[in-house]
Formats: sequence, C-alpha cells, structure tokens
Amino acid sequence: MFKSLARSRRARQLLGTTRFVVLSNFLRSGIVDFLASQPDRAASLDEIVDFYFATATPAPPEDVDLLQQYYKESAKPTKAGFVQFLIERANWLQERRKEVKFETPGATVYDWNPLLRALHAKYDPKFPGKDPTRRDAARTHWNNFLTMADAFDIVRYEGGRLRLSGGKLAGLRRELELFGDGYYGVDDLLGVLLKVESLRGETSWIVRPPPFMLETCDALARRRGIDSYWRFSPRLREGGCRVLDLGCGSGIYSNAFAEKGNKCVAVDMTPWVFFRAFLGARDGVQVECCDMNEMPERVTREPFTHAISNIAAHHLKNRPALFAKLSERLGGGGEVCMLNFNYSLRERALYDPIAKLKRQFAAQIHYNWTVLEFDRGGVDFISPRDMARDLESAGFRASVHACDPLRELFFVRGIKR
Ligand SMILES: C[S@@+](CC[C@H](N)C(=O)[O-])C[C@H]1O[C@@H](n2cnc3c(N)ncnc32)[C@H](O)[C@@H]1O
Repeated sequence: MFKSLARSRRARQLLGTTRFVVLSNFLRSGIVDFLASQPDRAASLDEIVDFYFATATPAPPEDVDLLQQYYKESAKPTKAGFVQFLIERANWLQERRKEVKFETPGATVYDWNPLLRALHAKYDPKFPGKDPTRRDAARTHWNNFLTMADAFDIVRYEGGRLRLSGGKLAGLRRELELFGDGYYGVDDLLGVLLKVESLRGETSWIVRPPPFMLETCDALARRRGIDSYWRFSPRLREGGCRVLDLGCGSGIYSNAFAEKGNKCVAVDMTPWVFFRAFLGARDGVQVECCDMNEMPERVTREPFTHAISNIAAHHLKNRPALFAKLSERLGGGGEVCMLNFNYSLRERALYDPIAKLKRQFAAQIHYNWTVLEFDRGGVDFISPRDMARDLESAGFRASVHACDPLRELFFVRGIKR
C-alpha cells in the first residue's frame, strides 16, 4: 500500500517535470502567435505544417556554403552581392536561373532571410515544403507534438485541428512564470533531440524540436535581454557606441543597438548562424564569421566601447587572457557586458522544491551539452560570480546584476579601470 502510494507520488513528480518541458517548448514553438492571427484561434494540422515550412525552414547547406565562399572571396561582403553570387552559382537554380528576378528590397526591410526562403519556395524543385516525403514527415512530427501537448492538457487537438482559448493561454503563461524563463526545458529537449540527430548520423530539420536554438535566444532577448542592456549599460541607449558582439546568434542584440545609433561588429563561428545574422543585419551592423576566441585583426582593429557576449560565455576559452586582450581594444571606461544564466549547479537552494527542479534540468543540460560539445573542446558552465572574478583579474571593476525577480538571468558588467 505504502509502496504503491510512494510510486504514484514519484510518477506524478516525473510527469510534472515533463509537462514543464512540453509546455515551455509549446510556448516557444511560435504556434501561439500563429494561432492568434487565425480566426477562432484555431488551425488545421496542414496550416501549421505550412506555417513551419514558410517560416522555419533553415537555409539549405548549399546556400550556407555559398555564403562562406562569397564571404571569403570578397573584401566587403554585402547582402546584395551575396544574393547575386547565389543566383549565379546555386545548383538548385540551375534549371530556372534565367527566370529569376530578385528585387532589392527597400531600406526599411533589413532582414533578407524571408526573401531567400521565398526564392526557394518559388524556384527550388527541392524546397522541403513541396517534397511529399518531407511533408509527410512534418505532418507526423507535428501530429505527435500536438498530441503530446493535448495529453498534457496544454491545448485541444482533436480531429487534426488545434484550438487554444485566450483564457487557457494566459493560464499557461502564468504557470510557466513560476519556473522563470523556461529556458532550461527548451534547452534540455534541444539537447536530447540533437543527440538523437547525431546518433542517427543525419541532421534533417524535422527531428529538431519546434523551437530552434536561435528562436529561443531571440525570445529571451525580446523578453528580458535587451531591456537589461538599457538598464545596466544605459550608454547604449543614447547611441554613438561601438560594440563587439561575441557569439552573436541571429544578431538580435546588435540589431537592437544599431537601431539606437550604435555601430556593431557581430561575430559568430557557426556557418548557418552566420548566414542568418548576415542576411538579417541592420545598417550599422557588420557580421563576421570567426571564432571569438581567436579573432582576426580585421575584426578587432578599431577600438570598441563595449564587448558583449550573451548566453555564450560558456564557449569562451581562457577568459582572463581574452578579457585582457579585449581590454586593449576598449577605450577608457570601456565595458565588457555578459548576459547569462547562472549555470552553477552548486549555488542552488536545495530545499526550495522549484530550485531543486531547476537544478535537475540544469544538470541534464550540462550533461547534454557536454556530450554535444565534446569534439569542439567542450563548454565551461560558469556562474556570474566566476565571470566577475575573471573580469577583475583582467583589470575590470566588475558588478553582477540579477535581471529578473526569480534571479534566473544575470548581467555581469566589467568597467575598464
Ligand atoms: C546560445 S547562442 C546565443 C546567441 C546570441 N548571443 C543571443 O543571445 O541571442 C550561442 C552562440 O555562440 C556561438 N558560438 C559558440 N562558440 C563560438 C565561438 N567559439 N566563436 C564564435 N561564436 C561561437 C554559437 O554559434 C551560437 O550562435
């Protein structure tokens, strides 16, 4: 009797944890915003699959390689120059190259990623949205994901139709707030599925979870990250600064700073990420593809007022040496700013049940990421205190600020002495 009670308690605890993962993934899948734009907040499975092919299809490897080629060959790479290069060389355009008319968009359109996707949808015979096998796979994937969301009482998904009431949505958001940002859940699933991907030896997009890594980071930036910069490094709000953005992802921070009249050099090493950032850059943002731990002189030549790194400090190697090098490139009062979660497992309150749950998630992330990054030299899960200590040792005056009431996200600021 006692045994079975204890078992059911354990089972409920485990389910609660999984529900959090499913819920946080669902909220970041983009479906909520999509549903909000639909009559009755409802959509069919096919409409959801169409939405995903239109918005979340990643750039195909050939395009990513072509950008690498173009970027290495040209002294001053531009978006228009790249699109021209792509139209002249891409194999997927072979049959219809002459038909292609690409109109350079007006100055207000700064993100060209959707334009490239539209070219594929129109001219690429292998565009995933047109391929019946991929479409079937996508339907199966979304059917499974939505069935799972229904089983966890997150949405109503019946007869191939998804429905979500406004009241329900507000309730789900409140529920997630209890856990702070929910990043851990997303990341954990991302880690697990990427592992499955690499075990299978193939990386078709469909086995990825609905929210991709950059979408997750962008959601965090919009919700809390960018505001934290305005709060803790207010000079950026006034414009006129020069920013080096290390591990820039989609470039969302650099774009936000450029909008206020700052100039940015945004660096990322991952080719498909660079692709997104390069095509998505606002005026005033120069995007470079290189390792932030060994940046070429071309990138760091001009002095900066800020060197920033968001949700990427765990990829920094030999931090004190790098901070000392950055200090040389910063003028008087220059700043190193880093936004990150507290990845330390040791600093969590063990007797707070939610902190305990988070610690379990964080431990899973540590494990997943360590496996994933093993071949690339690993990751170093540091705490904000570690970052501050390393900044101090490189001659900065460091301070640590919690960005949210739940103290999930931290802003570490080092000012050059
Ligand atoms: C979690 S994402 C954060 C992206 C962005 N900073 C944001 O907050 O939205 C981490 C980024 O660091 C990049 N990265 C990892 N190691 C790197 C390295 N050694 N040099 C440059 N970029 C790196 C990855 O490609 C990825 O885009």
